[in-house]
Amino acid sequence: MKILLLGSGGREHAIAAKIVESKQCQQLFIAPGNAGTAECGTNVDLKVDDFSGIGRFVISNNVNMVVVGPEAPLVGGIVDYFANNEKLKNVMIIGPSAAAAQLEGSKDFAKQFMQRHNIPTAAYRTFTRETLNEGLNFLNEMKAPYVLKADGLAAGKGVLILDNLEEAKHELCLMLKEEKFGKASSSVVIEQYLSGIELSVFVLTDGKHYKILPSAKDYKRIGEGDTGLNTGGMGSISPVPFADKTFMQKVEHDIVAPTIKGLQKEGLRYNGFVFVGLMAVDAEDGTKDPYVIEYNVRMGDPETESVFPRIKSDIVELFERTWQGTLNLTNLEIDDRTAACVMLTAEGYPGEYRKGDTIKGIENVKGSIVFHAGTKLNNKGGLVTNGGRVLCVTSLDNSLPTALLRSLQAAEQIKWRGRYYRHDIGQDLLKQMI
Ligand code: AMP
Ligand code: GLY
Repeated sequence: MKILLLGSGGREHAIAAKIVESKQCQQLFIAPGNAGTAECGTNVDLKVDDFSGIGRFVISNNVNMVVVGPEAPLVGGIVDYFANNEKLKNVMIIGPSAAAAQLEGSKDFAKQFMQRHNIPTAAYRTFTRETLNEGLNFLNEMKAPYVLKADGLAAGKGVLILDNLEEAKHELCLMLKEEKFGKASSSVVIEQYLSGIELSVFVLTDGKHYKILPSAKDYKRIGEGDTGLNTGGMGSISPVPFADKTFMQKVEHDIVAPTIKGLQKEGLRYNGFVFVGLMAVDAEDGTKDPYVIEYNVRMGDPETESVFPRIKSDIVELFERTWQGTLNLTNLEIDDRTAACVMLTAEGYPGEYRKGDTIKGIENVKGSIVFHAGTKLNNKGGLVTNGGRVLCVTSLDNSLPTALLRSLQAAEQIKWRGRYYRHDIGQDLLKQMI
């Protein structure tokens, strides 16, 4: 089978590495890819939003399957583009339709969907410029911290959590009147603050059946102790130790099953990944209850870099079944070991950062996996930085402390000017386990 994977980050390198393990994969193309994906297949110079270019490439290269990594082409309708084209409609494309991708593309759509299907989530209301005064009054009735979310895609920056009422009101005005996040904030969701521990659960669905992939936790802030600016993610751990059988049963019963049933009932075509961002909130009986913070319609980055190495099943077969509607006919095999992923970033990230620094020492890493996130080969064939998140190392081991230790040791081997990583990934989970 010939497969095209869309995207260029660490997530795509991890997906590419798993795809080429499959006997069914005859040839893999990655568009646009990075220096790491080039080791798994052939990078193709196409942008992920260039649907007609992608379509032409698929037809002329007899590609059988397209796997979509990031959300933008899904929200933009790439699955519908294929479905509506005679020559592309039989190509297996892994991802939801644009209508279903609204689960990520619109916070208000996601909240209404959860309400319709009784899926636990924070109480909320949505406001527009016309209802700004009602929004300000709603804030008066709420208690701090105040959670304000731009309705649309805002490159991970559209959520504000504020302690001060006046500041929250000011920000609401900026979002609705001044379009602080552009069109994404022409509607704003204000919701109840949930206190707990965040984690992510990933689901692969054919629209009717589903497989729950391992849980993971990511570390979003740049600084140790979860301080400083938000990033795309500085590391991840899978599985999450407190997400035990009881907790995962609640996740499946209260969230995953009604989500998939809801999609089916509403005729929302979905053959792909659902990423459920959860808050585990302490329940009165001493257990934890899961609430949905957000849906994404793709895998997480850097969660994929710890979840995918744990998948033992043939991913191409799973994708084929995802397309055909036969996911119920196979088992998902998972490696019991813990995966710890540590992200290495460029100096200055998540602010302005330099590109083009020479990367050294990857060859010294033994026994851990190095995924490329933002790298390229320069015109002399040397590996250089080409993004804020540059590389990540993932180690699999029998315990969380040993997996972490090995990833930190591996990270230390890799060098470039100003390279940075967090030394405390997973430490919060270790403390809980004691
Ligand atoms: P989102 O883009 O919806 O995932 O929100 C970004 C981040 O804001 C989440 O990862 C949480 O850390 C935080 N967050 C979002 N909604 C809430 C909420 N209702 N209560 C507490 N924290 C939240
Ligand atoms: N790691 C969070 C995300 O992929 O959105």
